[in-house]
Amino acid sequence: MKIADVRADIPLLEEVIYLDAASTTPTPKPVVEAMCDYYYNYNANMGRGAYKTAIKATTKYENTREKLSKFLNCEFEEIIFTKNTTEAINTVANGFDFKKGDSVIISNIEHHSNFVPWLNLRKKGVNLKIVTADENGVLDPLDVEKAIDETTRLISITHVSNAIGSLQPIGDIGKIAEEKDVLFMVDAAQSLGHMKIDLKNINPDFAAFPGHKGLLGPLGTGFLYCRSEVVDKLYPTNLGGGTVLDVSENDFTLDAVPARFEGGTPNIAGIVGLGTAVDYIDRIGLSNIEKHAKKLTRYMFDGINRIENTICYGDPENIYGIVSFNINNINPHDVAKILDELKRICVRSGYHCAIPAIRHIGAYKLGGNIRASIHYYNTKEEIKIFVDTLAEISKFLGD
Ligand SMILES: Cc1ncc(COP(=O)(O)O)c(C=O)c1O
Repeated sequence: MKIADVRADIPLLEEVIYLDAASTTPTPKPVVEAMCDYYYNYNANMGRGAYKTAIKATTKYENTREKLSKFLNCEFEEIIFTKNTTEAINTVANGFDFKKGDSVIISNIEHHSNFVPWLNLRKKGVNLKIVTADENGVLDPLDVEKAIDETTRLISITHVSNAIGSLQPIGDIGKIAEEKDVLFMVDAAQSLGHMKIDLKNINPDFAAFPGHKGLLGPLGTGFLYCRSEVVDKLYPTNLGGGTVLDVSENDFTLDAVPARFEGGTPNIAGIVGLGTAVDYIDRIGLSNIEKHAKKLTRYMFDGINRIENTICYGDPENIYGIVSFNINNINPHDVAKILDELKRICVRSGYHCAIPAIRHIGAYKLGGNIRASIHYYNTKEEIKIFVDTLAEISKFLGD
């Protein structure tokens, strides 16, 4: 699919220059239409009714699981639906039987969703070890290795930093985790739908994914990948309807995986839409998405970096789809508002739910930074307008 075809499917792009894919992406028409089709034509619960409409809802819901497992090269039952990445991470943090004295390793550039659930385990006596990234926001696998000791149970690391855009050496970290017999989790919130992910190749034990970001899927969708060999280490945290095989007044028997982790009525329309989003991304082609992202990211980084009074964070050779920056001493929210006022350019400003990462790059006192993030629907012309507008802002407000 050509960029123009994708843009034609997203009416919002006629109105704005959308550079906030790292938060969430606009939903293309076929995905919205798949959700409407569910609501108009087979709006029944899944996994429950014996009538044809309910069976259709179940089949469509499970088709998405099938599509995702093919897309990521894993098994059907290794996909557990959640409402977002955060819920997927919490499913592991709260479902794993951590004991007092255990420890978990994360990094100082994690999103709060891959930080706070682990920090919260301190209440249970679990220690958190935080590995520090380099000045470009990249982790050294050797630092991770050094942090491992006999108390380490799990390492959870982001694939791409949402605050800096830096790509992390998750393959090497995964190998270390395997050698040391420590569980390994990847936060793939910023990579899914943006680059090829082969779970058999990366081989994490767990991975957390959003449906609503790179995949161009609906809001309220996400999922956890849980490797079959380790799933028995996780206990469901959301018990009730749909999670059990049998119940007596004294006990219950859990259903098989993944049903035991998907308590209550799920976001069926969203998951159906997510299946259409996977097809849509396949039609564009991940290699086309990657090529485009690499070109545009570099073009954007160089353009911003050339403007006087700006500072860009990260190594341009190792950032992906995200450029984070500041204009001298101007509050990032002011810059974002001016961009919106002048040219209806949508960027994120502030701490990006990653305060430790923002502290790390020295942007905390200024109130964070500005983050521009792209997807396949963005064009070079849009980035030029963005960079030119920034140059004007810098000229008038920078000192
Ligand atoms: C790296 C990272 N992890 C986790 C999250 C949380 O994602 P969600 O909003 O799907 O829960 C985000 C969201 O921006 C993110 O960028």
